[in-house]
Amino acid sequence: MEKIIDEKLQGNALIIETKSENKRKLFIESYGCQMNFSDSEIVASILLNEGFNTTQNLEDADLVLVNTCSIRDKAEQTVRKRLEKYNAVKRINPKMKVGVLGCMAERLKSKFLEEEKIVDLVVGPDAYKDLPNLIKEVDEGRDAVSVILSKDETYGDISPVRLQSNGVSALVSITRGCDNMCTFCVVPFTRGRERSRDPQSILGEINDLAEKGFKEITLLGQNVDSYLWYGGGLKKDFKNASEIEKATATNFANLLRMVAEKHPKLRIRFSTSNPQDMTMDVIEMMAKYSNICKHIHLPVQSGSNAVLERMNRLHTREEYFLLIDNIRKLIPDCAISQDMIAGFCGETEQDHQDTLSLMEYVKYDFGYMFSYSERPGTLGAKKYEDDVPEDEKQRRLAEIVKLQRSHSLLRTQAYIGKTVEVLIERESKKSDQQWSGRTTYNAVAVFNKEDYNIGEFVNVEITDCTSGTLIGFPVGYSGHN
Ligand code: SAH
Ligand code: F3S
Repeated sequence: MEKIIDEKLQGNALIIETKSENKRKLFIESYGCQMNFSDSEIVASILLNEGFNTTQNLEDADLVLVNTCSIRDKAEQTVRKRLEKYNAVKRINPKMKVGVLGCMAERLKSKFLEEEKIVDLVVGPDAYKDLPNLIKEVDEGRDAVSVILSKDETYGDISPVRLQSNGVSALVSITRGCDNMCTFCVVPFTRGRERSRDPQSILGEINDLAEKGFKEITLLGQNVDSYLWYGGGLKKDFKNASEIEKATATNFANLLRMVAEKHPKLRIRFSTSNPQDMTMDVIEMMAKYSNICKHIHLPVQSGSNAVLERMNRLHTREEYFLLIDNIRKLIPDCAISQDMIAGFCGETEQDHQDTLSLMEYVKYDFGYMFSYSERPGTLGAKKYEDDVPEDEKQRRLAEIVKLQRSHSLLRTQAYIGKTVEVLIERESKKSDQQWSGRTTYNAVAVFNKEDYNIGEFVNVEITDCTSGTLIGFPVGYSGHN
């Protein structure tokens, strides 16, 4: 095992230097959700211990790993295109090995090796600790596949390497898998049953991040509100836990409190909340601790009860409104964002209008909107016909996007004239004279650099905006630093 001799912040990116010059070079890239990006940091950590160094340069790589997404057909097509690119590089560098990680690996398993001749290695999301053995197999000239889903793997014992990090914000995974079985969603099949990570290991990782100077962490899970630690094991087996395990279990609200109290200077975010699992105690915790960011990503997918039912989302439109009302009662300024699917099986024009009217009620700060993409193997694919014509899906999607844009603009305009605290994260993409950061509401703000630095909390007076960005000028440090 190669010892990491120096770990330091350099140009705001965490650079890891290692002793040996002649290490094998790993190029790793990620597609899809934040969980994939977080997993790639775990994978990089495992392979650094195996004598690899990471490289940003595909052409230099001895091993290329692509962490894939299966959520929509388009996501899979993007990955297939990348494989073509790797193939072109492999022609110049035939020794280069290519591995597929993540949800596509899990979904397609060894079929991948037949479909994509370039692939040497297929590794599902619960099998990353097998990577050292699998790479040996590949080195010896055999293809390697490992796609077994686990009951208890949370990678809690692995300290992730912060890839391309700004040294300010970091992802911390707290649950893996999902038990919700939304009928459109492939995640329960690719990431397996839900299990939670030991709170002590979560706190350990966060302590480490705080010591390294990180200012913001995002607690990650497919369904964070359903976090439940009772000593290990699947969430669905909790009913068989002992009385002691039940009495001492840690739920998401408890976890939030533990993190918020231990790290009053850290900003805490979490993602994603499924409305059916979000409870009042979580909202109360957010209201109580100023370091928990006032933003909830609360995907609803549709505003129609009939569609919600077919999607197996276990709440109604009315229950969702009640949740929104409760959030606004306790945290009046809380930002709320959405995910929406246009054109799910059997969606009528009236259902679509219900989605638009739900959006009018909430007036989300922002959202991620998609047209329905049938995924093989899901209940949706088996039970319902994908019967909304593609052009109709696209028309509905365009209406949803347009409405969201107008709501986003309303939300950003409301900040004009106000002073908001911004955590500086990076240089603005548009100007090297400006910083870009985010408010507690997850709104992006840009302003002149002056003498401020990345990682500082600055009060910014907002003077202008677009639907996605606040524009202002700094008026001094906030008390948070
Ligand atoms: N709980 C997860 C949701 C993962 S999928 C999370 O942490 O974000 C992210 C979003 O992709 C979903 O909320 C949904 O809006 C969208 N999505 C999932 N499956 C889809 C499909 N088959 N077609 C279109 N959009 C889909
Ligand atoms: Fe997918 Fe629904 Fe879980 S969207 S990740 S099955 S909460």
